[in-house]
Amino acid sequence: MTILIVGASGATGKLLVQELLNRGHLVKIIVRSADKLSEPLRANPNLSILTASVLDLPDAQIADYTKDCDAVASCLGHNLNFKGLYGQPRRLVTDATRRICEAIKDNGVSKPVKFVLMNTTGNRNRDLKEPISFGQKCVIGILRLLLPPHVDNEQAADYLRTQVGQKDLDIAWAAVRPDTLIDQTAVSEYEIHASPIRSAIFDAGKTSRINVAHFMADLITNERIWQQWKGQMPVIYNKAI
Ligand SMILES: NC(=O)c1ccc[n+]([C@@H]2O[C@H](COP(=O)([O-])OP(=O)(O)OC[C@H]3O[C@@H](n4cnc5c(N)ncnc54)[C@H](OP(=O)(O)O)[C@@H]3O)[C@@H](O)[C@H]2O)c1
Repeated sequence: MTILIVGASGATGKLLVQELLNRGHLVKIIVRSADKLSEPLRANPNLSILTASVLDLPDAQIADYTKDCDAVASCLGHNLNFKGLYGQPRRLVTDATRRICEAIKDNGVSKPVKFVLMNTTGNRNRDLKEPISFGQKCVIGILRLLLPPHVDNEQAADYLRTQVGQKDLDIAWAAVRPDTLIDQTAVSEYEIHASPIRSAIFDAGKTSRINVAHFMADLITNERIWQQWKGQMPVIYNKAI
């Protein structure tokens, strides 16, 4: 397969690039700086790098770069500094998701392109009417006011859920929801649920970035897992040891 990854220079994105290359696929990335990738990764003949800020690219260039892609994965996230949290672009993830999906539609495809979005357990899948406590509702309401990236994550998943929907002929999607992200060096046992089984605010679990990358790669490359989760927002937790 040929897979485009945005957010590929991030902590999870880099792991997803490596995982897909390890599985023998062709990977294309758009990164602001390739220096954030290791030398062996940059030198991998199956990796194509476009150095640019994704939202600065004209529509035609995004369309051209996605033309041969069977799947797109987004590991974009706002940098955790003042400019990243409160500066522009406030709708980084949503606008990148929307513009890439529009480019795929403009290209016209013979079978739906997979779009796998890295999202968060702080977001609800409103298709499933997931219940949350009054306390969590209040905290999420405050986060929406104080943390623009939270709204961005919600709107990116909402775009896929409501604008692309379940029956689109050009795009099929899944939004992966990890809990608190941690770094581990190897894939460990993890569990996938249709909805959170614990409160993301008051009882958060842990999810290794490398497990997120592994599951996103499974969604892209494993048809059985894709059929199980497409059009949904699977939640991923590390298995408690
Ligand atoms: N932290 C948690 O516990 C947690 C839990 C659940 C979900 N999440 C979500 O998981 C996602 C990714 O997490 P992560 O830790 O892997 O992220 P990360 O390491 O911060 O990576 C973010 C990626 O987005 C890119 N990016 C940031 N601002 C950009 C801009 N203005 N234009 C273009 N690219 C930009 C970064 O590029 P550069 O390298 O060029 O900066 C990087 O590739 C985020 O959406 C986050 O909200 C986080």
